[in-house]
Amino acid sequence: MFGRLKDVKAVITGGAGAIGMATAQAFLKEGALVFVTDYDAETVNRAIKTLKVGSDSVSGYPADVTSNDEVAVMMGKAADSMNGITALINNAGIVSPGYLVDQLSTDIDRVIDVNTKGVIICTQAVIPYLEGSENASITSTSSQAGKRGWDQNAIYSASKAAVIGFSRSMAVELAPAVRVNSIAPGHIKNEGMAWAAFAKRKQTDQTIEDFSADLAATEIPLKRLQSASDIANGFVFLTSKEASEITGAVLNIGGGVVMD
Ligand SMILES: NC(=O)c1ccc[n+]([C@@H]2O[C@H](COP(=O)([O-])OP(=O)(O)OC[C@H]3O[C@@H](n4cnc5c(N)ncnc54)[C@H](O)[C@@H]3O)[C@@H](O)[C@H]2O)c1
Repeated sequence: MFGRLKDVKAVITGGAGAIGMATAQAFLKEGALVFVTDYDAETVNRAIKTLKVGSDSVSGYPADVTSNDEVAVMMGKAADSMNGITALINNAGIVSPGYLVDQLSTDIDRVIDVNTKGVIICTQAVIPYLEGSENASITSTSSQAGKRGWDQNAIYSASKAAVIGFSRSMAVELAPAVRVNSIAPGHIKNEGMAWAAFAKRKQTDQTIEDFSADLAATEIPLKRLQSASDIANGFVFLTSKEASEITGAVLNIGGGVVMD
């Protein structure tokens, strides 16, 4: 199906990463204008170059999502470039695997700053642009880890649970003008997933492949890891008019690991 995102003008943070790029590609395929933003200029330019092979409807600008000033400039550039903004995908994120007793306070601050405060800063900055747009939406990347526990992952879990709480409150605060939802992805087989393999391998010497196969077999009802495009499909749906009655929701895309 094509054209489901016709008239959508979307800013995607973490847009050069695995899920961000898959989401940008899916949005372009569905007729959206896409503005990719990520940590540094080189990364953003590389992403734009790759995405332009499939479509001309892409532009971008770098911003650290933890910086109010950089985010304000980036949103202004996005609005100029697309002649408005109708959707924000809050997707930038980092991990800091390890036991809590070993975590440095700088690591704790950074995870909360990027994963939680970054979502808050970008949401605050985009609100004036979304007001007045038809079917405006904000969708943020939480995680299955924001809904259940895993060892060596507590700070990340806390940062992602906060995204859900924040999004639900904003869904009420911004209704009926803007819909606000989150997605809780499962385990994606990419660099972002390497943290889990790393944490486990420290104890078992498993390769990422063995770790992934073990995880799928033992923990995931559908017996497979998810792909970045599985998550992108969720972003397409929640941004589209098909989801126009959905706000405050958390969409699990994790093969059944979490079912609430
Ligand atoms: N990969 C998984 O298994 C998985 C599972 C659940 C949730 N998630 C979440 O999905 C999102 C995307 O993850 P991914 O797997 O594509 O990882 P990724 O590392 O490929 O992409 C994350 C992107 O965020 C960017 N980023 C990091 N800090 C930033 C900052 N301060 N400012 C701007 N950009 C910044 C990175 O440069 C990177 O491009 C993250 O929020 C992650 O926590 C991933």
